[in-house]
Amino acid sequence: MSMKAEYSMRDQNAFIEALGSFFSRYDARALGIEEQMRDNFERFPAPGDGRVRGITIHVLFHNIGIFGRKGDYLSDIHPRIAFLNSKLADYLGAKGMTISGKRAQLACAIMPYPDLNGVLGQSLPLSTRKSRGQIVIPARKLRQSPYYARLMEKYGDFVGIVTNNGTLIGPDGGLIAAACGVARVFQRGIRVLEFGSGGGSTALALMRKGHLASYGGNDFSKEMVDYFESNVTPQLAKRGIPSSMFFGSCFDMPVRGPIDLISIGVYYQAQPSLFVERGRELSRALGATGVIIAQTGMIEDRFITHMLRNAIPKDSTWPWQNKKCRIERYFRYIDEYILEQEIILIATNNRDKFQRMIAAFARL
Ligand SMILES: C[S@@+](CC[C@H](N)C(=O)[O-])C[C@H]1O[C@@H](n2cnc3c(N)ncnc32)[C@H](O)[C@@H]1O
Repeated sequence: MSMKAEYSMRDQNAFIEALGSFFSRYDARALGIEEQMRDNFERFPAPGDGRVRGITIHVLFHNIGIFGRKGDYLSDIHPRIAFLNSKLADYLGAKGMTISGKRAQLACAIMPYPDLNGVLGQSLPLSTRKSRGQIVIPARKLRQSPYYARLMEKYGDFVGIVTNNGTLIGPDGGLIAAACGVARVFQRGIRVLEFGSGGGSTALALMRKGHLASYGGNDFSKEMVDYFESNVTPQLAKRGIPSSMFFGSCFDMPVRGPIDLISIGVYYQAQPSLFVERGRELSRALGATGVIIAQTGMIEDRFITHMLRNAIPKDSTWPWQNKKCRIERYFRYIDEYILEQEIILIATNNRDKFQRMIAAFARL
């Protein structure tokens, strides 16, 4: 069987057939796929027409130990999901379908479900690829991308952030839109803490809209911290906005309240472990009135969002699943939006603010 790199609806049956034989090697069954088109905002320049076809593959795993038996999601479980993703990319690549790398116009996400009658079999090996924000693309160049040009029209100029592996990971349109939307329901400037600051677009957007009172940022990339301190800090200082940057892991950044808004922009796979370890502390720092926003996934890849939201059926869980990653343990009111084509979770313990946010986001 051969398939064109340019995937079309006609290829769907062949694709599903190919998935069937791939997943059977892993004692798993592909249940079905879902597709949606979105802008390809993770590549610069984006190949083809700048759009990407996102495919969610729902897969039932009979071996419920395939991603590990216990351990921390970020270090012990996610690397096994990454291993399976890389095998899928190789398998489809050999059939002429490119789903990874800078030429890909298809993005496949495995949405795994544990079989209710599953068995604890062997776990996959770990695949770890270090990634951090590293290279800065100037705003005038980034504007060649229609997605980022539209974003900059609304919120002003931002630089692009590219990882050491060549993926464009900032600015985060979803976080910018969420932060500015949340800020509007406070009747004053807000005190912000952000994990994964990158090129500082959240801080700059809030500053330009007149919403920022103070900013505490963090990144585990030295290049990003240096960029922020030499380019963003002076802009904030000019407007009299105090700021600080913590170089290091989001797991180690000191959190001191009171804070009005916490923005979570670190990699999706770090977020379950972050809530397990720091959920209680973050909720305390926000007190009765603060709000947390998190960009939790691509629209085709809802797995992390599901974990954080407790959307996985209670009677069929993975052996490694840790209930402490659920945001509902720390926040009473939670909502989910697609903003700038990204999934955003918004949570708070304040009912009044929550209702006003819903109204504000309905207008976005
Ligand atoms: C998606 S980008 C954020 C981009 C940012 N919003 C901007 O405007 O450029 C994620 C950033 O978080 C950093 N990061 C990822 N995981 C992290 C972690 N565990 N702790 C601290 N920083 C992390 C990366 O180096 C990267 O710069």
